[in-house]
Amino acid sequence: MPEQSASSTRRDSLHGLWSSRFAFILAVTGSAVGLGNIWRFPYVAGANGGGAFVAVYLLCVFAIGLPIMMAEVLIGRRGRRNPVATMTLLGEEEAGHPSWGLVGLLGVVTGFLILSFYSVIAGWTGAYIIKSAIGEFVGAEPATIAGSFAALTGSVLNSGFWHTVFMAVTMFVVARGVERGLEQAVRFMVPALVVILLILLGYAMNTGAFQQGFAFLFKPDFAALTGNGVLAAMGQAFFSLSIGMAAVMAYGAYLPQQTSIIGTSVAVVCADTAIAILAGLVIFPIVFANGLDPNAGPGLIFETLPLAFGQLPGGAIFGALFFLLLAFAALTSGISLMEPAVAWIMENHGLGRAQATTLVGTIIWVLGFTTVLSFNRLSDFRFWNGTIFDNIGFLTSNIMLPVGGLLITVFAGWVMCQNSSADELDETAGTLYRLWRFLARYVAPVAVLLIFLNATGLLAPVFDALMPQG
Ligand code: PFF
Repeated sequence: MPEQSASSTRRDSLHGLWSSRFAFILAVTGSAVGLGNIWRFPYVAGANGGGAFVAVYLLCVFAIGLPIMMAEVLIGRRGRRNPVATMTLLGEEEAGHPSWGLVGLLGVVTGFLILSFYSVIAGWTGAYIIKSAIGEFVGAEPATIAGSFAALTGSVLNSGFWHTVFMAVTMFVVARGVERGLEQAVRFMVPALVVILLILLGYAMNTGAFQQGFAFLFKPDFAALTGNGVLAAMGQAFFSLSIGMAAVMAYGAYLPQQTSIIGTSVAVVCADTAIAILAGLVIFPIVFANGLDPNAGPGLIFETLPLAFGQLPGGAIFGALFFLLLAFAALTSGISLMEPAVAWIMENHGLGRAQATTLVGTIIWVLGFTTVLSFNRLSDFRFWNGTIFDNIGFLTSNIMLPVGGLLITVFAGWVMCQNSSADELDETAGTLYRLWRFLARYVAPVAVLLIFLNATGLLAPVFDALMPQG
């Protein structure tokens, strides 16, 4: 409806507003900062050879991730409903097509799948709080620490127990809707996590392999990067920033009208990226100093960080505190993975918050056992990209989030009329708005499509033609 005046489409939120811009930053940071930064970034970077992967990751974060995050927030604030309802409403309003609501639905399903494995890994961090606190890692050798990890993940009972604990806590928080308490938790948790990471960085600098770790992260060897490696870097950018599944859109619905979306998004994206890089700078020197394999897979942080805590004075306490904070960071992310589904079921199927949470949580909990089993009974059951866990990770991060993000940025950049997006972004200078629109319309969609195409191998002949001696 281009003729409609911009301000007449400004809506009031159905569930109140964030108390301040800072509260919104905390909520989105709580969603973004989690296992993706500290557990997933180092292990996926390690599996893809380091430097070149990190360079592509950073490009994806700023050229694709940042404009898509802004698109999600602006769509969320425009619609002010749960993501499915918002996309349906705006689809009708801007293009006459309620079927855009399917983008919200895709997000709901993606959140289900991600939380199913996320909860299992978060459960492991729970187990590591105890392992650290009882001094299991004090002075321990790499082999002992690796054995301890294998014992945890190898046991359906142990791993399943901690997965159950994490899901129960997440469901409890989502059912009560205690956002205010979480705001406070994030305010304390993220800085505390950064402080411990900085202490670990001090340790890493003294391992004797800091340079090697640094070079591994920042010295790109593009020849070693495969099409799947580039896809994995993009997938990691989406995963880490919590974009592509409308989680940020759901939070944008409660953003006060006068808050700057551009400034807020830049702050969150920079903080999230800094924490991932910091984690990498801690992990890889420890890997090289101890002759470990950077390509160790999902166990990487659980086999490296305990070595550091085991050698630091007060390491038992520090280690326990670190894993506690990490579990908390995972909780604030887990909540945002579950919230879109719960909000949608409440509004569409007439269930109360507690009932909707129980329903969603139970399905995710059951689904999570496919990940628990991927590390023991079903570890030899491999197809496509590996175990069931590997496949759910690949499907969600590398395909579903980028497809969701692509549709979201196409909607914000091409379908929404310029008046609407300009009204929400509300940048008086205009240059920043134009830059966003350029990234959202051209750069982000084209990059996502090219990366998909590249991963299929179809672009290889083109590259070969461009680089004859390669
Ligand atoms: N960004 C979270 C992390 O890095 O741990 C994971 C996540 C949360 C992904 C919410 C997607 C999402 F919607």
